[in-house]
Amino acid sequence: MKIQVPATTANLGPGFDALGLALGLFNVLDLEEAPDFNLDTDHLVLKAYKKAFEACGKAPLKAHFSYKGDIPMSRGLGSSAACIVAGLYGAKELGGLNLSKEDLLYLGTEIEGHPDNVAPAIFGGLVASLMEEDQVLTKRVQVSDKIHFTLCIPEERLETEKARALLPKEVPLKDAIFNLSRIPFVLEGLEKGDLNILKTACQDRLHEPYRKGHIPYFKDLEDLVGKEGKVLISGAGSTSLVLSTQSLKEKLTQALSGEPLEICELKPCHEGVKRV
Ligand code: HSE
Repeated sequence: MKIQVPATTANLGPGFDALGLALGLFNVLDLEEAPDFNLDTDHLVLKAYKKAFEACGKAPLKAHFSYKGDIPMSRGLGSSAACIVAGLYGAKELGGLNLSKEDLLYLGTEIEGHPDNVAPAIFGGLVASLMEEDQVLTKRVQVSDKIHFTLCIPEERLETEKARALLPKEVPLKDAIFNLSRIPFVLEGLEKGDLNILKTACQDRLHEPYRKGHIPYFKDLEDLVGKEGKVLISGAGSTSLVLSTQSLKEKLTQALSGEPLEICELKPCHEGVKRV
């Protein structure tokens, strides 16, 4: 059986660990029952696969996995969430496990530590999510097709662990207020396709100020994009995400030609993980 899972971009500015959007870039897990497992025990796909069986009190069906695709690793595009979601969903489908998408989100978030990539990888589209001890809440919002999502994916990787270690343990109250007051307007701006709202709403004080200096080309992109869009860190980086209402792909590709990076424009993916 084949399972397709989308890339995801998390945070979208102020929605640190809370907002994420599925994008039209995919990995595919091919799996079939077999006499043994062909992945290392610490492979995230296998770890998630086994966790889903364990959650149902069943022994995991032995299987062979082939996992590949286009989501680059350690670039802030949800490659680890994609592994986790593919493994969980693979277990659900191969094992006929009685797990809802909310159950998968709960299990996936236990592995990943935060739900913002896992949720859109499961549900598709733009998803706000939170997880408490025994409850997950999600809210999906339709994204307007007026917004262009341009990604600047550098060759340089940034491990999430390293990017999280850059953040302070505590933040000033005014910075928390700065972020939380903006989140409803990120959703509104993306739903309406309103760049003016997004320019104000997609500002952040909880992670971007501490990470910017480690994101290749972030400042160059801000200078190049100017008033035509808003530049964000995609997840924990190293990719930058540019929101705009005109396509900026050609302009950015020309301006940054010869640099070790890829510029691409992706559409939101309205479906999450599924069998293909
Ligand atoms: N919200 C997470 C972060 C996404 O910014 O660290 C990366 O997994």
